Formats: sequence, C-alpha cells, structure tokens
Amino acid sequence: PVPVIIDCDTGVDDALALLFAVRHPGLDLRAVTCVAGNTDVAGVVRNTLTVLEIAGAGDVPVARGAERPLIEPARSARHVHGEDGMGDIPGLPAPARAAADVDAVTLLRREILASPRPVTLIPTAPLTNIALLLRTHPEVTRNIERIVFMGGAVATGNATPVAEFNVWHDPEAAAILLTAGVPITMYGLDVFQRVTVPGADVRRLRASAEPGARLAGDLLAHRPSAPEPDGDDPRGGLGDAGAVCAVADPAGLTTAALPVEVSLAPGPARGQTVVDRRPRPGEDELHHGTRDRHLVDVALEVDVERYVKLYLAVVEGRRP
Ligand code: BDR
Ligand code: CA
Repeated sequence: PVPVIIDCDTGVDDALALLFAVRHPGLDLRAVTCVAGNTDVAGVVRNTLTVLEIAGAGDVPVARGAERPLIEPARSARHVHGEDGMGDIPGLPAPARAAADVDAVTLLRREILASPRPVTLIPTAPLTNIALLLRTHPEVTRNIERIVFMGGAVATGNATPVAEFNVWHDPEAAAILLTAGVPITMYGLDVFQRVTVPGADVRRLRASAEPGARLAGDLLAHRPSAPEPDGDDPRGGLGDAGAVCAVADPAGLTTAALPVEVSLAPGPARGQTVVDRRPRPGEDELHHGTRDRHLVDVALEVDVERYVKLYLAVVEGRRP
C-alpha cells in the first residue's frame, strides 16, 4: 500500500476523507495531524479522534498542530461545518483516547523519515503545519513522494471571490508549500466542487448498520450540493475526500503542469492561487524574463462517477 499522512482540520469533509483513507486497502494511513481551520485545533483533534475510532482505526497516531495561521488570526468556518466543526451530528461519542504527546511537526517528521517507502502527504486544511514542517525539518523532502493538497482554485474562490478557504486562511503557508521543491498536485475547488454523491446513495449510507458507513452518510447529508436536475433530491459533496481518491486512483484526475503563485499582497486578491494557463509567454515574461516559476500539477478535470463509485465501495466495505 501507498504510505500516506493526512493533515486536516476535521471538518465535515475531512472526516469523509479519513473514513475513506482508513478503509482503502491500497493506502496505509500512517498518521493524522491536526491544524486550526474549520474549527479551533482542540475541536479538530477531538473530531479526528472520534472519526478514527468509529472507523475502527483508533491506533493511527494523531497529533495536535498549529492553533493559528503564520500571520493571519484564526477564523472559524462554523457557518459551514457546524458548532462542533463536524456537522453537529447527534450522538457522536467523545473519543476514548487523547492525541499523541508530540506536536504535529514532530510527528510528521518522525513518520515521514521512518517510512520504508516515500510518503504521500495529503493536506486537506490550511497549510500552517506543512509550512512549519518544511521550515523546521527540510530534510523530510527526501522521503516525500508527493504532496496532494486540497486547496486553491483555477477559477472561482469560495472564501472570497478569488480565494479558496484553505489557502486564504494561511496564504504565507501555502506559498511555502508551493515552493517546497517536491512534486505537488493541487486538488482545487474546480474539481472539489464537482464530486458529489446522489441522494439515494446518501440515504442508503445513513440507513447502514455499520457505524463508519452510517457516519459517512450523516456527513454527506450535512453537505448538500445542487439538487438533481429532475427534482430536489440533494447530492452530498465528497469535498476533501476527493483528494484522497486522487491518491488512491490518480487515473481519475486530469492534471496539467502549470506555474502557480499565491497572491500575498493585502487586498481583494489575497489568498488567490494565480495559475498561468497562457499558451504563449506574456508581457511579464517578455519584459522581465522568466522568473523562478514553480510548476504544480493542477487538477483540471475529474471523473466524478469513478470517484463516487470508488468512495462508496471502499466506505461500504466492498472491494474497490
Ligand atoms: C476547504 O475548506 C474546508 O471548509 C473544507 O474542509 C475544505 O478543505 C474548501 O475550501
Ligand atoms: Ca478541510
């Protein structure tokens, strides 16, 4: 199996991502690290531990990380993810264990360097922990296969007209990630918003006797997206879980290697991922030469049916 580590801000769709990663036979989830984002970091740790226990993976190491972005203040997303940061699903148990007694950066370093095969890192949250890791222990890059992060957007943003939440929440951290010098896949809003599960499947999951599948159903019901064309049966967004599907099954994603920069200046574009899709050099390059531009594998298309089928098979315990 592919060794993976998820850095998350659980988070309704981060929880969907964890349920999938734990159950996919081709993935070896070696650790989960937590960062402030959708809710405060203590809430993220609690939610993450609860999800892993429900999924039957109570032994995966979990560590607490940054409680605020590098420069920005922490801003919660309770309006999207509920008071508890995970959809306020009734009856969820408090976790039986506590987080590891090491911080996220230390756990990331330890697990990355200890892995017999290079690790794929999957951040589904603001990139604060990852930036701190890269600055504190740059030697980890030698055992990182790739970083597949949920964040950014080629077209429209969600936190602001042009910025996606994870990058907007900590733009400096995202800029550090993008210049890390390791292969990077950007699973941005352009694909993120498209991968949604039909209402009938959400209902089947919710009625399941198996706790992990049932939780996935409840989480998906909290993330209604556009109604079906023929009625008002809302689909549930897989969100961050799509980024984990992209690691398990890269053939479902179409990417292009493009220069990506984060806009750091104050003002309306702060946190935007500026993706250069021009076929020919522009005025900037003609007049100022080619700057040191970092190429990122940017997700442009996704096979929605393929990932939905894969997600449901894995979470419901059928062979993917
Ligand atoms: C991202 O922000 C969070 O709300 C989601 O969990 C996802 O990681 C979408 O912009
Ligand atoms: Ca998230």
